[in-house]
Amino acid sequence: PRPILLTRHGESRFNVRGRIGGDGLLSDAGELYAKKLANFVEKRLKSEKAASIWTSTLQRTILTASPIVGFPKIQWRALDEINAGVCDGMTYEEIKKNMPEEYEARKKDKLRYRYPRGESYLDVIQRLEPVIIELERQRAPVVVISHQAVLRALYAYFADRPLKEIPHIEVPLHTIIEIQMGVTGVQEKRYKLMD
Ligand code: G3H
Repeated sequence: PRPILLTRHGESRFNVRGRIGGDGLLSDAGELYAKKLANFVEKRLKSEKAASIWTSTLQRTILTASPIVGFPKIQWRALDEINAGVCDGMTYEEIKKNMPEEYEARKKDKLRYRYPRGESYLDVIQRLEPVIIELERQRAPVVVISHQAVLRALYAYFADRPLKEIPHIEVPLHTIIEIQMGVTGVQEKRYKLMD
């Protein structure tokens, strides 16, 4: 069995300020995670010549991958974070205050709620289909460096979690989720590299 390693990007400067979306750089803690991740990946996949690193097209995942050497890197637009549309760059507090109807609608049905000029979780799940097909087809290990909403959907697919749970699954920062697909089913390990 070959592993799939799932991780969020290192903490971004937007994360620190509680802002969603954007295309920001990493915080100091995020940069440290990128180094620790590179160390982990280089050890864990040392003899895996055909392994590859997949990121989104956003800076924070590309920068998180950048200290990793020796493996090809592929950028997927389909791995980009859920598009928050008009709410991109806002904090949840600001959305609640300035767009209370939007805030309530999302709270009621987070799976189906679509940000104005943005996406819903269902949209994200749909655009991930080609990524999942390619992941299933790979024989070598893959490291996927992406974003919380996207990883919720990918994780749910492999861990066989129901659709309605997807928007609420916890995918912590600075933690690697290793998925192994064997004949007896899916096994999961977690490596928390830092707080
Ligand atoms: O920036 C977006 C977050 O990673 C997604 O979180 O869907 O729980 O608001 P949320």
